Amino acid sequence: MSVARQPIGVIGTGYVGLVTAAGFAELGSEVWCIDIDVAKVERLRRGEVPIYEPGLEELLKRNSSRMHFSTDIADALEHARLLFVAVGTPPTYSGDADLSAVRAVVEAIPASDRHALVMKSTVPCGTGASLTRVFAEQGKDGLGYVSCPEFLKEGSAVKDFLNPDRVVVGDSGGWAGDAVVELYSPLDAPLVRTDIASAEMVKLASNAFLATKISFINEIANVCEETGADVVEVARGMGLDDRIGAKFLQAGIGFGGSCFPKDVDALKQLAGNSGYHFQLLTAVIDVNDLQKRRVIGKLQRHLGSLAGKRVALLGLAFKPNTDDMREASSLVLSARLLADGARIAAYDPVAEEQARLLVSGIDFASSPLDAVEGADAVVLVTEWQELLDLDWQKVAAAMKGDLVIDGRNALDPEAVRAAGLVYEGIGRR
Ligand code: UDX
Repeated sequence: MSVARQPIGVIGTGYVGLVTAAGFAELGSEVWCIDIDVAKVERLRRGEVPIYEPGLEELLKRNSSRMHFSTDIADALEHARLLFVAVGTPPTYSGDADLSAVRAVVEAIPASDRHALVMKSTVPCGTGASLTRVFAEQGKDGLGYVSCPEFLKEGSAVKDFLNPDRVVVGDSGGWAGDAVVELYSPLDAPLVRTDIASAEMVKLASNAFLATKISFINEIANVCEETGADVVEVARGMGLDDRIGAKFLQAGIGFGGSCFPKDVDALKQLAGNSGYHFQLLTAVIDVNDLQKRRVIGKLQRHLGSLAGKRVALLGLAFKPNTDDMREASSLVLSARLLADGARIAAYDPVAEEQARLLVSGIDFASSPLDAVEGADAVVLVTEWQELLDLDWQKVAAAMKGDLVIDGRNALDPEAVRAAGLVYEGIGRR
């Protein structure tokens, strides 16, 4: 794009920060990216991309002349008026979001009526109000504040940035909200312009709703197993209803990742802190925890005791096209299998390095066929395309046993059965 657009600062270079930065650079802005991690900033300056996110490397490369990386927030303050905050807000032991990184950013910003914080990080509803109170206490009343939640899915974050379903901008008047709307204007997406608290809640409620949809279909799958219905057929029939929609009705071994588990818990705690018991979300979390363990029951039903049995886990990341292992179902599954004395060989095309940091006591295989060698059972944990394309005749020849558990209902049962293997999905006939 040729039109010069307003420069911005982005604080935090995780997947949200980097994708947001590269996306706005693509739209024509000069972008100053700030991170406290010196080594990471050095890597980014050298053109290295520290995370696996399809399309991000190309986007960063194409816009490298407009992207600047620094550990000093003053660089962003000097060149840009809008500072997008994309730092981590991980859960604490109480389930509340840990806002210490957000508070550190607020501390680091001096009094100014030229600048505004644009909150991308997922924060509890009410954070904007309390931060603007902090600004006032610290004599920084001139700072603007805008809530602009992100809806980027890992694995398709670049695409999601450039083609958003909606852009949500929450503010309480002033120049900054208009400036954020202007920044997003080339994307031509539906705009929800609202107050700060409502914008914060849109994000939490959206993720909680999607997680609820997944736990709902997982419970339907479990009931299907008792009644002889097939959840894939059921989801197809439900999804064609416009009011329901087909997305996020894929039954499986539970949701993971950096957002759903954390945001559902944070919304539940947020409600609880103000005296409201959010019963539905308690169930969503419980169903998800149990769903991750149901595969164990299936394995035991076919194999008896799992002690000494060889189980191959195909895929480890919390979903395909990412190396993210946060809250991945594979973590619960592998820990339960090890506790029962099973031996595990695992394969993931991208997440092995991350997985090695979190899991010990399992063998990492360099190919799917290596992983299934001598296995009594195979479990598809993450539906990577490479795993969906497996030659099941070769898998059958390499395995010792014949059980294939499709934890994502993503395989073709006929292809698996045609190889002489026993196929079992989640809630499938
Ligand atoms: C999510 C939200 O979708 C995104 O808008 C938000 O900003 C960040 O959190 P992400 O965590 O990247 O994105 O993954 P998503 O694609 O939403 O999947 C989350 C989990 O749900 C994965 O573990 C996935 O396997 C699981 N899932 C998803 C299902 O089990 N069934 C489905 O039908 C859909």
